[in-house]
Amino acid sequence: MKKGIIIQASSRSKGDTFKIVSYLQEQTGFDVIDLSQKRINHFDYEFKNQDDDFNDLFKNIVLNYKTIVFATPIYWYTMSGLLKVFMDRISDFLYKEKDFGRLLREKQMAVLSCSNEDKLFEGFTMPFVETANYLGMDFLGHKHTWVENNIIPEQVKQNIREFVAKQIHEKK
Ligand SMILES: Cc1cc2nc3c(=O)[nH]c(=O)nc-3n(C[C@H](O)[C@H](O)[C@H](O)COP(=O)(O)O)c2cc1C
Repeated sequence: MKKGIIIQASSRSKGDTFKIVSYLQEQTGFDVIDLSQKRINHFDYEFKNQDDDFNDLFKNIVLNYKTIVFATPIYWYTMSGLLKVFMDRISDFLYKEKDFGRLLREKQMAVLSCSNEDKLFEGFTMPFVETANYLGMDFLGHKHTWVENNIIPEQVKQNIREFVAKQIHEKK
């Protein structure tokens, strides 16, 4: 099983979150998935969306990786819509194909948020912490990052390096 995967959840593939993800990728050696390049529909109680990209993507993640890092821009004080839809769709595997859902137990979750300033409102982390608890995952932590005029400030790079060293670990 590989160590980890970074799930990039920005509405643009090469924006600010991408810059942060690229730096994190350098530090960890983790694989990256760009959710904006996937076709993932909203959760549907009748599971009419099973032929989109979510099933294969989810199975690939739970079968092959130990650590899942969600990297999301801050959109309206919270995670991106892309990431929220991804989270909603995890419910598919709690209703059906539960064996795959159970594979999340004891995996690790970490979160990086990205905006343009060193400011994060209270409550951002809660949905991730509670989701990890609910799914039986180990929550490694959250780090807020920011990009200024297309550049990652040195302070942010240092914060990411420390976050990797203390909470996420790994670069082979
Ligand atoms: C729809 C939308 C909502 C946003 N809401 C917030 C917000 O609530 N707080 C904040 O600090 N920045 C907010 N921003 C700014 C983004 O967090 C910031 O520009 C971020 O670096 C964008 O990352 P991206 O290039 O990966 O999309 C918002 C941007 C967009 C497009």
